[in-house]
Amino acid sequence: MTVKIAVLVSGRGSNLQAIIDNIERGYIKNAAVNVVISNKANAYALERARNHGISAVFLDPKGRDRAEYDREILNVLREYDTDLLLLAGYFRILGSEIIDAYRHRILNIHPSLLPAFKGLHAQKQAFEYGVKVAGCTVHFVDEGLDSGPIIIQKCIPVLPEDSEKTLTDRILEQEHIIYPEAVRLFVEGKLKVEGRSVITLD
Ligand code: GRF
Repeated sequence: MTVKIAVLVSGRGSNLQAIIDNIERGYIKNAAVNVVISNKANAYALERARNHGISAVFLDPKGRDRAEYDREILNVLREYDTDLLLLAGYFRILGSEIIDAYRHRILNIHPSLLPAFKGLHAQKQAFEYGVKVAGCTVHFVDEGLDSGPIIIQKCIPVLPEDSEKTLTDRILEQEHIIYPEAVRLFVEGKLKVEGRSVITLD
């Protein structure tokens, strides 16, 4: 059986690309990205989707409140019979209706070692804080901001010569490794959520 994946994006889509590439090269088996949904018309992620023959849908949030907008997303998810929803650089908060409908079936990648540096510009927050270790996190999405159960984290040292940019770039390299890994574990049915803990049955 193929796990049908939908991806929510707002911009560049390099994590989306990493997922697509890892499906195409067979690292993630029995899964397909069927639809990519963006809240930004000009998101490059939409073009990446089209380049791979994946449906690319722009849903305009203008003039809709969050609940209405989320219902439109839900309609698309149902239309594509979605099993797994991935947030990949999606810069909006999901409402409780989607989270309820897809409980423990929504993943997000965040560029910090959660629970540190939630929200926007996490790498900048970490750099300016002066941390010696930075990294990224894949987690299940719940009602809070970047607060759901953690699936995988990867840490990297902050080097004396790092700038915010070089640190961000090295974190992104790791994002492109751990996000496909988490998706593979999900697709293989190897993630079990127990309260705040995610048990990996690998
Ligand atoms: C990534 O750093 C991701 O962790 C964060 O937003 C950025 C999206 O980048 N949530 P991309 O669109 O996947 O290239």
